[in-house]
Amino acid sequence: MKLCIINGPNLNMLGIREPDIYGAKTYDDLVDFIRRACEEKGVECDIFQSNSEGDIVTKIQQTYGDAAGIVINPAAYTHTSVAILDALKAVGLPAVEVHISDVDSREDFRKISYAGMACEKRFSGLGFEGYRQAVFYLADKYG
Ligand code: DQA
Repeated sequence: MKLCIINGPNLNMLGIREPDIYGAKTYDDLVDFIRRACEEKGVECDIFQSNSEGDIVTKIQQTYGDAAGIVINPAAYTHTSVAILDALKAVGLPAVEVHISDVDSREDFRKISYAGMACEKRFSGLGFEGYRQAVFYLADKYG
């Protein structure tokens, strides 16, 4: 099975951005972590990061006919992007939402998740481990 893992804006700044919230590990560390989780489950993975909403929409569209599921951390676009929600609905693949921090215990504007409306599961506040749980969930259910 192949999964597409999509990371949104500023996640490439992990390790530099607000380490008290997001930790000291870098985006490369995250990619290594996700790759290891996928290897553990025998899952092929395509890991993508972009700071651009349109590029994320295009990447979601490209999963159609290519991947069996999507793990997505839309970052700030979580709370604003109907376009990402519509793209997830358009491809209709099982999707899981991940957030490194616990979005529900932060500012009120982070409590709204548009992308989450097209996701069947959410892992929030578990750090990198949320990605592992998301990969395992999709592999166990659809692999
Ligand atoms: C985030 C939470 C979002 O609210 C924030 O805008 C991010 C990262 C997280 O992984 O905790 O950029 O998605």
